[in-house]
Amino acid sequence: MSIDLRSDTVTRPTEPLRRAMLDAEVGDDVYAEDPTIDALERRVAELLGHEAGLFCATGSLANLLGVRQLVEPGQEVICDVEAHIARAEMGAHAALGGITMRTFPSVRGRVDVAEVAKIIAPSAGPYLVSTAAVAVENTHNFGGGTIQPFDQLRAVSELCRDHGLGFHLDGARLWNAHVATGVPLIDYGRLFDTVSVCFSKGLGAPVGSVLVADADRIARARILRKRLGAGWRQAGILAAGAHYALDHQLSRLADDHAAARAFAAAVAEAAPTAVDPASIETNIVIINTGDHPAGPIATAAAEQGIRVSALGARMIRAVTHLDVTVESCTVAGKIIGSLLTR
Ligand SMILES: Cc1ncc(COP(=O)(O)O)c(C=O)c1O
Repeated sequence: MSIDLRSDTVTRPTEPLRRAMLDAEVGDDVYAEDPTIDALERRVAELLGHEAGLFCATGSLANLLGVRQLVEPGQEVICDVEAHIARAEMGAHAALGGITMRTFPSVRGRVDVAEVAKIIAPSAGPYLVSTAAVAVENTHNFGGGTIQPFDQLRAVSELCRDHGLGFHLDGARLWNAHVATGVPLIDYGRLFDTVSVCFSKGLGAPVGSVLVADADRIARARILRKRLGAGWRQAGILAAGAHYALDHQLSRLADDHAAARAFAAAVAEAAPTAVDPASIETNIVIINTGDHPAGPIATAAAEQGIRVSALGARMIRAVTHLDVTVESCTVAGKIIGSLLTR
C-alpha cells in the first residue's frame, strides 16, 4: 500500500481544480489589477466578517503580517506553548518583526482564558515587556486537530478588549473547526482583529492563504508584504485554485474527520494506550508510541508504504486529507497498531 499521512499539505491538485486555475482571469496584483485575487480577498473577508483581505503565499506569511499589525517591535504576543507561530515559523515574528513571545501551558493546545489572564502584561511599564496581543490556533495542529471551545474564544476576546490587546487567529484549519462544529465562520471571525486562513491544507489547493482584518490594517499589511519581497503579479492563477477549493472541497472535510476517526480506531484496536479514538475532533491524529521511540516506528511504517510524521521522541502525527479514504486509513491504522505491539 502507499498512503501519505504526514500532513494535509501533501495533496495534489485535482483535474477540475487545475482547469479552474488555467481559466483564471488575471492581472498584475502589485498594481491591484488581478480580479481573481480581488474577488478572493473580498470573499474571505466577507465570510469572516472583516472589512478586507490580503492573499499571501503561505500561512506563515499571513500570520507574520497579521500579528505584526497588532504588535510593535519590542512588544510581545502571548500564545500557547505548542502554537505554530511559536514553534514552526522559524522565529519569523522575532527575526523579522522584532516581536517576543510568551507562552501559556495547554492541554492539546486548547486555550483556557484563566491561563491567558495569568500572564498578560499590558502596559507593563519601563522594566517589563508589554503584551500587545494574544494569538490562538483553531484547529490546533500539534495539539492534534483540537477545536477551540467557542466560550473560551469569546472569553479571551473579551479579555483582550478589556485590556486593549489585539487578538489574532491562526486559522490555517479554521475550515475544519467550522465543518466539525457547524459554528458559522463569521462567528469565529468576528471574535478576532486579524485572522489567517489557509487553502493549501485540508481544502486541497496547491498554494495560498488569506489574512483578513480592517481596511487600515490590511493596507499596512500589503505594504509590509511588498517590503518582504512577497508582492506578486498574476497570482490569480493561484487564487482561482482557492476559489475552487472553497466552492467544492469545503464540506467534504467531514470525510477527512471520519477517516481520522477510522485510522485512530484501527490503531487503538491493536494498541489501546496509543490513542483514544474518542479524542479525535478533526483530521489530525496524535499517536503516543509509548515504549517505542517514534522515529523507528515511522521508518518501519514507511517501509510498508505508510508515511507519518515523527514529531517528538514518542509522538507520531497522522493527518487525513482529500487523497486518502476511510478504507486506506483503516488499513494504515492496523499496520501502525501492529508495529506498536511488536
Ligand atoms: C496551524 C498552522 N498555522 C500555520 C501554518 C503555516 O502554513 P504554511 O506552511 O503555508 O506557511 C501551518 C502549516 O502547517 C499550520 O499548521
